[in-house]
Amino acid sequence: MLSGKKVFLRAVELEDSRIISAWLNDRDTNINLDIIYPLSRRYADSYVLSSEEEASKRIFVIDNQDRKPIGLFIIDKIKWEYRNCEIGIVIYDKNQRGKGLGEDALRTGLDFIFNEMNMNLVYLHVLSDNKAALNLYRKLGFEFEGELRDRIYKNGKYHNLIVMSKKREEDII
Ligand SMILES: CC(C)(COP(=O)(O)OP(=O)(O)OC[C@H]1O[C@@H](n2cnc3c(N)ncnc32)[C@H](O)[C@@H]1OP(=O)(O)O)[C@@H](O)C(=O)NCCC(=O)NCCS
Repeated sequence: MLSGKKVFLRAVELEDSRIISAWLNDRDTNINLDIIYPLSRRYADSYVLSSEEEASKRIFVIDNQDRKPIGLFIIDKIKWEYRNCEIGIVIYDKNQRGKGLGEDALRTGLDFIFNEMNMNLVYLHVLSDNKAALNLYRKLGFEFEGELRDRIYKNGKYHNLIVMSKKREEDII
């Protein structure tokens, strides 16, 4: 388990599958994510298992100080040869947003990725109108890499997808 100042990042357990199933089907949150269809409980089970079965993926549950699960931190597409990976972060519990927990989870995750997994570069995709996430990534030193046009379709309109990345030597402020 990884300890931050405000959150813990721990291994995902099969027992988390129920809440993860509810989270993955949260359409308000999915507006910001590349999830389209309703997803079954079985999908949630296999998603949880993929964290240990797939060498290129690690899923962490973000717990708050009361040890209540509030979100997920995902390390995906781990490329050991190039020492890079993609990340995703979601605070699913809406009452827990805006309290510095997402930032602390991301700081904790990045420290682990650079200083324990020995990655060189971390990248991510974010919808161009997701102000909260863009601000968070900029705050932690992610650089703009490019904008993929019309890559996502939500709510009857196309959205651009921004790619950002951060290299190991680019210090977290
Ligand atoms: C994006 C997200 C992870 C941020 O987590 P959070 O815990 O709510 O954010 P924090 O309270 O830690 O805020 C950290 C920084 O993020 C930015 N931020 C957070 N919420 C914001 C908002 N509503 N508007 C603008 N900036 C915001 C700010 O830069 C903030 O720093 P500041 O407090 O010094 O201004 C969270 O809002 C979330 O899960 N959203 C839905 C899913 C999502 O969009 N995930 C990212 C997909 S790419």
